[in-house]
Amino acid sequence: MPAVKKKTSSVARKPSTNGKHHSVAPQEVAINSVLQEKRVFKPTAAFSQQAHVKSMAEYERLYAAAEKNPEKYWSEVASQYHWFKKWRKVLEWKAPYSKWFIGGQTNICYNALDVHLSTWRKNKAAIIWEGENGDQRVLTYGQLHREVSKLGNALKKRGVKKGDRVAIYMGMTPELAIAALACARIGAVHSIIFGGFSAQAVADRINDAQAKMVITADGVFRRGNPLNLKSVVDEALVNTPSVENVIVYQRIKTDVKMTEGRDHWWHDLMDLAADVCPAEKMDSESPLFILYTSGSTGKPKGILHTTGGYMVHAANSHKLVFDIKDDDVYWSTADIGWITGHSYVVYGPLINGATQVMYEGAVNYPNWGRIWDMIQRHKVTILYTAPTAIRSFIRAGDEWVTKHDLSSLRLLGTVGEPINPEAWMWYYSVVGKKKCPIVDTWWQTETGGIMVSPLPGATPTKPGTATRPLPGIAVDVVKKDGTPCKANEGGFLVVKRPWPSMLRTIYNDNARYEKVYWSEIKGMYFTGDGARKDKDGYIWIMGRVDDVVNVSGHRLGTSEVESALVAHQAVAEAAVVSRPDDVKGNALVAFVTLKGGYNGDAALRDALRDHVGKEIGSIAKPDEIRFAEGLPKTRSGKIMRRLLRELATNGVISGDTTTLEDFSTLEKLRQQEEEE
Ligand code: PRX
Repeated sequence: MPAVKKKTSSVARKPSTNGKHHSVAPQEVAINSVLQEKRVFKPTAAFSQQAHVKSMAEYERLYAAAEKNPEKYWSEVASQYHWFKKWRKVLEWKAPYSKWFIGGQTNICYNALDVHLSTWRKNKAAIIWEGENGDQRVLTYGQLHREVSKLGNALKKRGVKKGDRVAIYMGMTPELAIAALACARIGAVHSIIFGGFSAQAVADRINDAQAKMVITADGVFRRGNPLNLKSVVDEALVNTPSVENVIVYQRIKTDVKMTEGRDHWWHDLMDLAADVCPAEKMDSESPLFILYTSGSTGKPKGILHTTGGYMVHAANSHKLVFDIKDDDVYWSTADIGWITGHSYVVYGPLINGATQVMYEGAVNYPNWGRIWDMIQRHKVTILYTAPTAIRSFIRAGDEWVTKHDLSSLRLLGTVGEPINPEAWMWYYSVVGKKKCPIVDTWWQTETGGIMVSPLPGATPTKPGTATRPLPGIAVDVVKKDGTPCKANEGGFLVVKRPWPSMLRTIYNDNARYEKVYWSEIKGMYFTGDGARKDKDGYIWIMGRVDDVVNVSGHRLGTSEVESALVAHQAVAEAAVVSRPDDVKGNALVAFVTLKGGYNGDAALRDALRDHVGKEIGSIAKPDEIRFAEGLPKTRSGKIMRRLLRELATNGVISGDTTTLEDFSTLEKLRQQEEEE
């Protein structure tokens, strides 16, 4: 193996503005990248021969054809799926608003289930589910279709109509997928809220979408403990006037309070429901789901995806990137509460008729062998997980992996954050035994599907890069003025042309949609990521250039956490920054100044962390809280987050401090650093 040069990459930022709206404008950003990775891994001949895309030449041909005539390319891709009525126009682009497959009518649930019923797949396992406590269930396509149809009827009976929003707050049981599919079947718009969010976060999302119905569960098992989800919903529903009905799936059989007239047991409704529920003919552009994600301001963004375009790219990208075949056992460890679970647990795999493993709990419960044990038992062939998980497995020790038989694996994937080359190499050698290609997939909630990724039978991979864009996807790295960067020059990752699964807007907020994604770099979709392209055209993601941080693969706006902190009675001011973390990718460090009369002690630290947990959810709890007498600010009053970031990372500040208003503030923070 050739030696590797030292690798580092950094995104250096100038100070951002104060308060809630402090996204960093691209022109302020200086991106440096000195990452040099020389190793290249070609797919084996055996893998390439059987793959959907068999060679780099084939990829190049596909890519070039799509560049030459994107609408023709997407039209051919879309023709693989079932349409009740064919579109008359592939794309209408009135920047920055796109419509795809106009005039076409389809139903994504029909494509995920009904199309398989007239084939041998009718009795094929769609979902092999495992509860954290060892419970096992297998649902065939036929059974899944029946459950979804019944729930569709139950929803209709409770007044849910086409276009109505339904909030879903559940653990990872098949019922979560069934709930999403039932909404899609009857034309309702689902808004899935990750089961780790707090009552406040649930209420905010329900109110923003004006959801009429909530589907939840009594609870879920997490690390051996029963977590009561229904009580969180009860707390949220105190302030959500739009909600008329709640359906409660019984998973852990814990005591829950059922509100007469509003709350209904899933099993009661299902017992009464008929199992024939025709899939609604949906216009291609009818809304399919809203998924909230963090941005650089306090309020989460309701990312809106529509039906036809999302379906086409989610399914086709799943087929090409995961090289999915009928005899595969595919496992994405992502929770359906995130976009990865939407596109690559629910829709992509089912549309492709795949068999997949779905798992309820923590992949390291009851011990670090759980994930490997499951792969061995279920003979998983394709594993898709996050770099954070990989790094934590490295820490736990190779023996957890090596004592299991992982010979069924043929392909590995990662998503959610940059994977450092060391973690990539470990995944490749220890898990994949040097025979499985790795697909490092770059994409976002907003893109709906994978944008940059190797095609496993074609693309030679290099540890740490998501490689090349998929055919039809015009991703590039540019300067602020939109001109392409030179090879290896750091710049902004953009998409130059609309693509079918792009977000259509931010729900009820076109102005924010236009501002966040389409105003920073003229005429292009701005991803918020910094990147560089090497001489082979491979894209190396360098991380966010705005105030969004990836913690354990979860996307968090630092200002969201700041808003939560200042909502606490003791807090006068707060600035939240990230520092690199070996396992989580990034850790959150909060600098907090207190109001008079409050003591910055351990008890208050705990109270503040709990408070953030209550306002947003445990995933947002700062890893570290530092009390300060003042925060360093520029003369115009902007908090100098860059300095805080340096302080949190290195304990020293080397950058330019000439605009700093009060040097003593910084000096005190520095001293405190030395004392702690
Ligand atoms: O910064 C990029 C990072 O995750 C962001 C998108 O987060 P989210 O919308 O939550 O979606 C995550 C799952 C698709 C991106 O802007 N990101 C995602 N995948 C990668 C990545 N960074 C580097 N490499 C990746 N493969």
